[in-house]
Amino acid sequence: MSILIKDNIYWVGAIDWNLRDFHGYVTGRGATYNSYLILDDKITLVDTVKSTLLGDLLANISHLVDPQKIDYLICNHIEKDHSSSIPDLMRIAPNVKIFATKMARIGLNKYYGNLPIETVKTGDILKLGKKVLQFIEIPMIHWPDSMMSYIPQDGLLLSNDAFGQHIATSKRFDDEVNRADVMYEAGKYFANLLTHLAPLIQNALNKIDELKLSIDMIAPSHGVIWRSFPGDIIAAYRDWCSFTTREKVLIIYDTMWQATETIAKILLDTIINAGIDAKLLKLRETHRSDVMSELLDARGLFLGSPTIHRTMFPTVADLVCYMQGLKPQKKIAAAFGSFGWSGEAVPMLTDALKNMDLSVIEPGIKVQYMPDSDDKERIRTFASDMIARIKHQ
Ligand SMILES: [Fe+2]
Ligand SMILES: [Fe+2]
Repeated sequence: MSILIKDNIYWVGAIDWNLRDFHGYVTGRGATYNSYLILDDKITLVDTVKSTLLGDLLANISHLVDPQKIDYLICNHIEKDHSSSIPDLMRIAPNVKIFATKMARIGLNKYYGNLPIETVKTGDILKLGKKVLQFIEIPMIHWPDSMMSYIPQDGLLLSNDAFGQHIATSKRFDDEVNRADVMYEAGKYFANLLTHLAPLIQNALNKIDELKLSIDMIAPSHGVIWRSFPGDIIAAYRDWCSFTTREKVLIIYDTMWQATETIAKILLDTIINAGIDAKLLKLRETHRSDVMSELLDARGLFLGSPTIHRTMFPTVADLVCYMQGLKPQKKIAAAFGSFGWSGEAVPMLTDALKNMDLSVIEPGIKVQYMPDSDDKERIRTFASDMIARIKHQ
């Protein structure tokens, strides 16, 4: 299958229908690795696919041209979902010349041995014939080597990981699929891969503005192509980079004998009764990557754990570790939990939330064994403090 996306430019990528885990992030809808073939004086392939799907890439190219005739390969990003087909492709088309950033050359040579690479940087232009490729480095979106390629003749931005979504569909364009699903997956992708890079992504968005790129279409390396709504995904990235939130509180917890869960439900009821959107997520039932996508637009976070073996519950520790790396910002956070005799979990969680530079309500709330009527009143007061702060922000 090859799909025309612009004059003489085709999607020739691969669909990974059964992918359910992308380095620890649950991809419930699968994924795609998008490659693009430009038929010009120089036949140019932009990015490859995960090596397990090389056969699909070659078959898609073969509908249009013999893969041996490829002249140029643009490697926008060396992560293996885009680069691991390069060694086999080089065996099939040994005269291919690769264009990549300096950082990409270091990584490609480490991964695959010495390859014929010409390094490029922001502002460099590669003539293909009637079309040219303009390169724009986007370090850390998603690795130090990353870049985008822009074709001014078509207003086409080949954005690699930026603006992607992990979703496998038989359709290639944003106007052919359920947009709410696509935006949800774009948010989940941002929340789980890019949150900690928000300032750098903001710089990249500013660079796009400075270069005055006229963008008619954004073709990322994952998911659907933004043909009709490129402005929507750029606007969403601007919101996500600035950590724009709404009146929404997450109550995330795990529980042993339902005492921490009882606290969680009192918090939930109090928040909902105040007219604020809230969501209850138990960690043994909810994957950390789904928690992160729910957290993207949440303003408040209650994180709860019972004390077990003088520490927090393992599923809660897993989430804390994941959040520490992704660094979501501008949240009001608080810890809660039950204990039997020592009660270390809540102060440990409070410290962890403070170390993430969140705005933390201190101290958290601790309940021995099971909430009694006094405890329930304390919990409602604690929730009211969150409500006041949520409404004030
Ligand atoms: Fe990547
Ligand atoms: Fe990728």
